[in-house]
Amino acid sequence: MDVNAFTTAMKRYHLYELADQTWCPNIIRQSIVESLRLSINSGGYYEETPAILRKSLKNTKENQIIDLCSGGGGPWESLHVDLNSGEGRYDVHLTDINPNHDVLTKLQNETNDSVKFCAKPVNALELPKELKGFRTLFSSFHHFEPHEAQQIIADAVSSRQGIAIFEFTRRNPLAILLTSLAIIFVPIFVLSMRPFSWSRLLFTYIVPIIPLGAAYDGTISCLRTYTESELREFTELFADQNYQWEIGNLKAGISPIPVTYLIGHPKETVKIPEYQVSTPVGEQETEASTV
Ligand SMILES: C[S@@+](CC[C@H](N)C(=O)[O-])C[C@H]1O[C@@H](n2cnc3c(N)ncnc32)[C@H](O)[C@@H]1O
Repeated sequence: MDVNAFTTAMKRYHLYELADQTWCPNIIRQSIVESLRLSINSGGYYEETPAILRKSLKNTKENQIIDLCSGGGGPWESLHVDLNSGEGRYDVHLTDINPNHDVLTKLQNETNDSVKFCAKPVNALELPKELKGFRTLFSSFHHFEPHEAQQIIADAVSSRQGIAIFEFTRRNPLAILLTSLAIIFVPIFVLSMRPFSWSRLLFTYIVPIIPLGAAYDGTISCLRTYTESELREFTELFADQNYQWEIGNLKAGISPIPVTYLIGHPKETVKIPEYQVSTPVGEQETEASTV
């Protein structure tokens, strides 16, 4: 069997996700996002991210983190402990266009306010000026079309803030196959979701919209995820902005699919950046590279 056929990047399709639709009932949207959080935490997909985050945070001398598109909190329940286990102390502020108050209040209490959340909706495309800090996006950059993705990076650059983007989804058949296993795992995750809701049980076990929706959104997320080459093309637009960029792959816990990342921060010293020749879009790299 040709393994490459399952791991080669596919064309990018920006199709609609169910949980992004304004008409999607809250219980379905929040259960899908919450199952994503539970799957990230049980799979340890982002356990390698603290080391590179810490390095970039140290360079920027920043100790406030503004997480965008936080959903149910993503990996922050364990990530804030790992991040704070070294020299620095970091406060994390979670934001989302549809903040899930129940789940985020619980996370804030359990972390003794190390991880706080903004109760008001925060649009990642129109970040309020008062939200200052190193920006992070976990499993969410694929939500944005290329012009919006550029806008998010451009806003971080013009505010001279660091930015880190991590995605465990990938545009290849193996990633899609693994993501669709949500049909099996979501009915298990639903049992631990709080507050208890009869409608959540109804939409999981009787009319299984939640597991099917999670598998569908996972598949669409894979088809929307940017490759390393595409991320590098975004950073090349800011080549004259005196930023240090790193793009690469990290091991993703139990998943055979690596996490793709982009991390950038202002350089300390003014230096004209070297021109980096772009790799063709769609081609995948396996090692980190800096621009
Ligand atoms: C796939 S979930 C990722 C959640 C979380 N980061 C995680 O790792 O579990 C995407 C989240 O992005 C949010 N979102 C989508 N568009 C947004 C926007 N323009 N601004 C802020 N949040 C947005 C959604 O409400 C949703 O909670």
